Amino acid sequence: MRLSPKIVLSSNLILAPMSGITSLPYRRLMRKFGCELAFTEMINCRSLAYRSKSTADMLASSGDDRPLGVQVMAEDENYLLKGLERLSAYDFDLVDFNAACPRKKVTSKGRGASLLREPKKLAAMLKVLVDNSRLPVTLKMRLGWDNSVKACDIALSAQDAGVSAVCLHGRTRRQCYSGQVDYAAIAAVKKVLKVPLIASGDIFSPELAKKMFDETGCDAVMLARGALGNPWIFSQIKEYLKTGEILTVPAPDDVAAVMRDHFAMSLDFYGSRAGVRQFRKFFIWYTKGFSHARPLRMKVSMVNTAEDMLDMIENFRAVCFKPRKGQGAWQN
Ligand SMILES: Cc1cc2nc3c(=O)[nH]c(=O)nc-3n(C[C@H](O)[C@H](O)[C@H](O)COP(=O)(O)O)c2cc1C
Repeated sequence: MRLSPKIVLSSNLILAPMSGITSLPYRRLMRKFGCELAFTEMINCRSLAYRSKSTADMLASSGDDRPLGVQVMAEDENYLLKGLERLSAYDFDLVDFNAACPRKKVTSKGRGASLLREPKKLAAMLKVLVDNSRLPVTLKMRLGWDNSVKACDIALSAQDAGVSAVCLHGRTRRQCYSGQVDYAAIAAVKKVLKVPLIASGDIFSPELAKKMFDETGCDAVMLARGALGNPWIFSQIKEYLKTGEILTVPAPDDVAAVMRDHFAMSLDFYGSRAGVRQFRKFFIWYTKGFSHARPLRMKVSMVNTAEDMLDMIENFRAVCFKPRKGQGAWQN
């Protein structure tokens, strides 16, 4: 898939932006399993102006973390331009604009999915972004605010504004994460666009990835919840699309090895205190569905040191056995 003369992807599996999750350690781990393009979590253009440690963490990258998109959100052109100016000091491959976040604290300020109610304003902001960015621009959107009637028009005006691709979560803002992904509505958007369409929503298994490709004709799929505690999903989807084979579910030894690797990157990036704190949620996702893991999962919120976290991982390896059904945090 070609996003710009410089960004030509050989893989059609992309890591979706996830707030509080897709930081540098997580992205580096996912890339080891076949994710090619990844995104930072959403960054508010207003907070780019304040050089806080948390914003610096969100902007951090490394040589093995490419290609990388930075995702920004803003309520108006003014903040957008200020944010862009700050980003010029960083080395990203593309800029993604968030018109998808359903959270009230975001939409009540006129950011995220709330812009889907103001298609003209959204198109104008995208044009400003395209005209003032040295990087290709993409748009992350939902189908609409409370229905999908305008999805094609919004995507088309983004294309007219010059975006290089549209990433589409196949739900409305009203649905948040409930109900079904609307495959037909994604297919309708794909049909009208010339730029690539990257589809998002409920890719929890190789079969669901194939369903997304088959039913929408999308150019690539974007994985979010399906990759939590389950980086293997990238290699599983790749294999399934190529051969129809489902790779075997990783054993506790494999899961423990990946957890140790991920935890080491977390310590390295955040330091020991925050590194342990950040990793707790991932321990819960990695161990979901394994027999005998429940007591460990209940205890992990009290773990404060790297030694104790490594003990927890070793306990998991020694005591737990294979998932009851499926695999991955959101499947059971
Ligand atoms: C914890 C979490 C955080 C998210 N943060 C962002 C974000 O920062 N920016 C964004 O565009 N979408 C965000 N999303 C939405 C995902 O990128 C994705 O579009 C959505 O979860 C649907 O995909 P899925 O069904 O594979 O999870 C987030 C989703 C989750 C679950």
